[in-house]
This record gives sequence, C-alpha cells and structure tokens, in this order.
Amino acid sequence: MTPDWFTQDFPHIWLPYTQMKTCAPPLAVTQTHGTRIVLEDGRELIDGIASWWTACHGYNHPHIRAAVASQLELMPHVMFGGLAHKPALTLAARLAKILPGDLDHVFFSDSGSVAVEVALKMATQYWLNQSVRNRHTFVAFKGGYHGDTIAAMSVSDPDEGMHALFAGLLPEHHIIDLPRDDASTAAFDTFIAQHADELAGIIIEPLVQGAGGMLFHDTAVLRRVREAADRHNLLLIADEIFTGFGRTGTMFACEAAGIVPDIITLSKALTGGTMALAATVARKKVFEAFWSDKAEHALMHGPTFMANPLACAAANASLDLFDLEPRLAQVKVIAEALENGLAPCRDFKGVKDVRVKGAIGVVEMKKIEDLNTLKKRFVDAGVWVRPFNNIVYLTPALTISEGDLAQLTGAIVQVLEKTP
Ligand SMILES: Cc1ncc(COP(=O)(O)O)c(C=O)c1O
Repeated sequence: MTPDWFTQDFPHIWLPYTQMKTCAPPLAVTQTHGTRIVLEDGRELIDGIASWWTACHGYNHPHIRAAVASQLELMPHVMFGGLAHKPALTLAARLAKILPGDLDHVFFSDSGSVAVEVALKMATQYWLNQSVRNRHTFVAFKGGYHGDTIAAMSVSDPDEGMHALFAGLLPEHHIIDLPRDDASTAAFDTFIAQHADELAGIIIEPLVQGAGGMLFHDTAVLRRVREAADRHNLLLIADEIFTGFGRTGTMFACEAAGIVPDIITLSKALTGGTMALAATVARKKVFEAFWSDKAEHALMHGPTFMANPLACAAANASLDLFDLEPRLAQVKVIAEALENGLAPCRDFKGVKDVRVKGAIGVVEMKKIEDLNTLKKRFVDAGVWVRPFNNIVYLTPALTISEGDLAQLTGAIVQVLEKTP
C-alpha cells in the first residue's frame, strides 16, 4: 500500500531523467543496510548497482557511520574560505598518498559533474596563467559521459541519450573515437597533431565508459592517449568518478595502465557512498602554473559546501576500510562470480555481448523494447537492477556476499532468458 506521505508529497518532487507526466511512481524506500534496500511495504531488494556505483562498502557501514556521527558533534559544516579543518587536510594528504605519481594537490567540491567542471576550468586556466590564450578546447571520446552540467555535457558524447537534446547548443569540443586499433590510432594521432595548438587537453574515462554504455577499452588505449598528450604538451584529465576506488580491480583505473594523468576527478565511492563529495586532484606541474604573486592566477572556483567536514570524515573512514579490509581481493572474487554467473546469458537470443571488468558485469542486449517492464521484473525477482538503453549491468558493493551476488546474477539470467 502506498503510504500517505508519499501520495501527499509526491506532486512536489521532480525526478531525474524522468517524464513526470507518464512515469511509474518510484518505489518508496525507508532503509538500507549492507547490500539491501528496504521498501516501505517491507520487501527487501538486493542492490545490484550500489546506488549509482557509490556504496562500495555496502550501506550504513558502522565505521563510516561512527566517523560521521562524531564529526556531527564537532562541526557539521564550516566554510572553506579562510578556514581549514583536519578532516579535509587529512583526506587531501591521504588521497595524495594513494593516487599515482605526483597527483598531490586536491581541490574539493560536492559532485562529480562539478569536479569535472573544475578540472576543465583548471586545465583552461593552466594555459591562461601562462599567457596562452588560444588553448581552450578539449578532446573527449565517443561513448563518454562526464556529468550533467553544461561544461561536463559538452565533453560527453553528444549522441548519448541523456544529452542528445542539447547537441549543437553546447560549447564546442572535439568528440572523437578512442584509439583502439591501428586505424583509429592513426586517425586519433592525426587529429591531435592538427589541432594541438588550440587544445587545452584530453579528457577520458579510463578503462570503462560508464553511463555511455558500460564500454570497456584496454590499458594500451590509455597509454596511447597519455603518449599523445605528452607529444603535444596537452593536459590529460582522467575522470575516475566511476572507476576510482577499486571498481575495475586496481585502486584507480589509471594504475592498471601505469599512467599518471595531469588531473584526476573523483567522487561516487569517495565517501563510500554516504555523502556528496568530489575531488579534482592535480599534478605538481599543474599546481605550479597557479603558484604566483598575481592574485588573478589563483584557481577561480569555490563551491559553498566544498570540503564539507561530514563528507570528509566519511571519506577518511572509507579509506580506512580500504586499508583494513581486502577490497581489491574482493573485486577479484566478484569478477569471477560475475563471469560465471552471467555466462548463461551469452546463449540468449536477445543478447549481443556479455562482458566483465573488475566488479562491473554487463549484459548488452540487441535492443530493450520495454525498459519499464524489465525494471519491474527485476524488482519482482527481489533485486535492484536498473537497465538503461540496451544495457543490463551489475556494479554491486565490493563487500557483497557470494549468496547475494549469486541471486543477482541468477535474477538477470532468469529475467533475460524470457526477454526477447
Ligand atoms: C565518469 C563520470 N563522470 C562524472 C559523473 C557525474 O557525477 P555526478 O552525477 O556526481 O555529478 C558521472 C556520473 O555518473 C560519471 O560516471
């Protein structure tokens, strides 16, 4: 039964990517724990996607809750202009320590899209501060997704579902093919060589393009992009908002390729999925372009809630868990279970591809005729799985039990077997 609070108040809410006139009402949720979502009507769903890839330790982890609760007593928030606090400074130092290379300078913000905005602005201002005024466009990749704010949209694939409406109306950057093979590498190299003088940098989601379709590429692609950036003196931005914190099998996806980007963006699992927080982290050479006696060379950005102490406390506690518990080993086990559990889907008529990278399992369908019915079938099977476009995927908490994971893959097999 739909509760009164839902019926009365729902008309005032505006949902993401949702046609409010025709949408099925969302499920009323009252609680989360571990890898479970508890609905108002008492049903419990096993969460297959960890709240948009954030809740890497599962929900309500006691260590993160305790850290947030004790920070709440001291100081839930304070402005970060002219003031600084231990949770933020500790977190910045810890991120600098675990990130590859000399990615040592951390700028906090409050969402992934804003972290990308900051990265793009940082890269543009990097050139301006050196009196180079013509380098302000970016190369980004087809299939890419970097967020929903205007600049982030402008470096995302313009044909991708969430942004197609705005194609042609956004600031213009160059969205080209990833250098995957000989032909696309030659085209990529030629393109970069021809446009190098006007480019500020290149932005890429390393190893996995998430919201654009859970598309994978290998480490050689990343190395090619890094080499091209080096050859032409371009800044390389790695958007690890999805891939960061173990999701692909290493703490950061760039590590698998042995490359160090000039700027990296982090969010989602940064706080273990408990709070809104993001970071844009720069290498020494980027930071040094802002280090000056001129006030106008300062990075021109400053979100009101940047470095929120509660969120920083949650992130520090999340990093503790990566230190204390074997997350990367768990990713290996999950990868194997996803491979085995999703394998039967390869034989289904409607399935185009099944692929796994780290704790990401994907079943790409030829076409999904009716997304809403499919979503409902998953709920009826007791799992929270949210297909989009033609993609059915799992990105569970890295702490998920063998049994829960088996139920997730089992539900996907069972539902897709009956999906034409
Ligand atoms: C790679 C990547 N970049 C940026 C974003 C945007 O993050 P947010 O939704 O927190 O603004 C996302 C969100 O899915 C993402 O996957």
